[in-house]
Amino acid sequence: MMAGLAIPQTPAALHSPFHPDCEQAYRDWRKGKLADYPCSLDELTVPIADGRALSAAERRAVLGAVKRANFAIYQLPANQVADKATLRQLGRQLGLERLDSNLCADEDGISSLQVAARRRQGEYIPYTDKPLNWHTDGYYNRAEQQIRGVILHCVRPAASGGENAILDHEIAFIRLRDENPQFVRALMAADAMSIPANVQDAQQLRPEQTGPVISIDADGHLHLRYSARTRNIRWKDDSTTQAAAQCLLNLFQQDSPYIFRHRLQAGQGFISNNVLHCRSAFADHSGAGTGRLLYRARYFDRIRDFDRDR
Ligand SMILES: [Fe+2]
Repeated sequence: MMAGLAIPQTPAALHSPFHPDCEQAYRDWRKGKLADYPCSLDELTVPIADGRALSAAERRAVLGAVKRANFAIYQLPANQVADKATLRQLGRQLGLERLDSNLCADEDGISSLQVAARRRQGEYIPYTDKPLNWHTDGYYNRAEQQIRGVILHCVRPAASGGENAILDHEIAFIRLRDENPQFVRALMAADAMSIPANVQDAQQLRPEQTGPVISIDADGHLHLRYSARTRNIRWKDDSTTQAAAQCLLNLFQQDSPYIFRHRLQAGQGFISNNVLHCRSAFADHSGAGTGRLLYRARYFDRIRDFDRDR
């Protein structure tokens, strides 16, 4: 690592457009990114005939969307039952292999997000009908277990609400860096943001996690570890870090053509390189087995084009 900054000493990372010293690489990359940025979700939506066996064209379309905006929306046929095994298979075809089995994941490592009756799950906002603030998934994970890829699949939408908003973290990076390059350095510091330990009933479920907000992986890709929550988050007590955190918050409070909003329908899902997202509150239908149900798979892998790797 470079002194105090979350940058591995690999050629790809050291020449990455996200490296704070790579001014020209950043300028060139930024130009291409913004020129190719989609104007609407239609450009990122891919109908898929069978999640277990993507056609070459479907695979190319998903990878193409992910290359432009770090996420795609897929739509499975209405008559196809998408169980967790289908999602597992869908992920595998796009390089998503290593699942994170977090505290609340089911035994197969994929979480069923629904309003929980059980108390332990009820402690976590994803398992309630409340709004979820802007974040990337797994921001409280250890550095070696950061979440790079996510599939969020809708089995049943809510009766009303439950809309997601999404912002590509590479766009957030551009806004930060353009505002002040020092913001990027501050958020790359190893002590930029801390999440206090998760203690319940005098038992520590997760230790405190301190780490960078912005990091670069060995292949030069950007990763963001972020939560807009004010409770249970501690930002480094330094004016540049605080101003950078405020700059990120401001992004979410303005209307922006880069923020996409979408309410997933049954059979639809997001597949992403863990982009920034939030969720609005929702109201369920009454009656057992009718409430909003989403499957969520979190991976230590980024979405990857196998063919090109060969
Ligand atoms: Fe999330």
